Amino acid sequence: LDDPDVAMLTGWDVAAMLPRPSRESDKYRRGVVGVAAGSHQYTGAAVLAVGGALRAGAGLVRYVGFAEPLAQVRTHWPEAVTGELREHGLGVAEVGRVQSWVVGPGVGTGTESLTVVRDVLASDVPVLVDADALTLVAREPSLLRRTAPTLLTPHAGELSRLLGVPRERIEAARLEHVRLAAERLGVTVLLKGSTTVVAEEGRPVRVNPTGTPWLAAGGTGDVLSGIGGALLAGGLSCYDAAACAAYIHGVAGRVAAEGAPLVAGDLLTVLPETLSGIL
Ligand code: APR
Ligand code: MG
Repeated sequence: LDDPDVAMLTGWDVAAMLPRPSRESDKYRRGVVGVAAGSHQYTGAAVLAVGGALRAGAGLVRYVGFAEPLAQVRTHWPEAVTGELREHGLGVAEVGRVQSWVVGPGVGTGTESLTVVRDVLASDVPVLVDADALTLVAREPSLLRRTAPTLLTPHAGELSRLLGVPRERIEAARLEHVRLAAERLGVTVLLKGSTTVVAEEGRPVRVNPTGTPWLAAGGTGDVLSGIGGALLAGGLSCYDAAACAAYIHGVAGRVAAEGAPLVAGDLLTVLPETLSGIL
């Protein structure tokens, strides 16, 4: 890897970037993450994204969603502060002030979710855009014209929709396409897959060395988005938050799998030991 436009991440880099609480910390200064995820069809995505944010060190997680995912989040994470979205009424701002947003996992692609995604992207804090929100942004790229930084976390299929390039071409040249997306869309892009890569215009593409093919399981991406949101709320730039989230997620995958299948929730279980090994 002698290419100056490519940088392999190391555990040292990540340890140096990760936010740590100090004596003066309080929960607000450690970072408040807003999560807008889940739908009546996909409730689990909300639970996993909220869990990722909580376990990655957010001071507070504020969740907004419709009744069904909301009930699941309340059951699984009493630590989260929650607000209910209603069809005509409560918007994402009702949940209170946050330092970052995670939007998209399981949120759906209908008109209700478009309103949620639009409201989140209209905020003046960093936003991590994942999953269904990426599909909506691909249809309406003007949503990405924002005042605050934006981090997209597509897999190759989602990037294919964003760029209008066939998935196979992306898989065959991942570095080139993640770089192209960052330049064209003017945002930071984390491209998931067997090797996760992070691009931002004017910076080297970061290559994540951690991970395991056992991570190819439904819901692991939702956990990643929560981790990224916590790091953004903790004050990291999109470029650093993306790199650290990918690294931590990959290590957690190896710790959780140990040569046997994992489920996404296992990542949450091993995040404390994973982080204590890195911090
Ligand atoms: N090796 C290492 N890591 C991998 C591999 C692999 N071969 N394959 C996938 N991963 C990692 C990715 O890097 C990413 O971190 O697993 C995670 C998968 O995330 P997503 O692709 O976002 O999958 P997820 O959202 O959890 O679940 C699938 O995505 O396309 C939607 O509708 C689909 O609900 C489904 C969901
Ligand atoms: Mg996903």
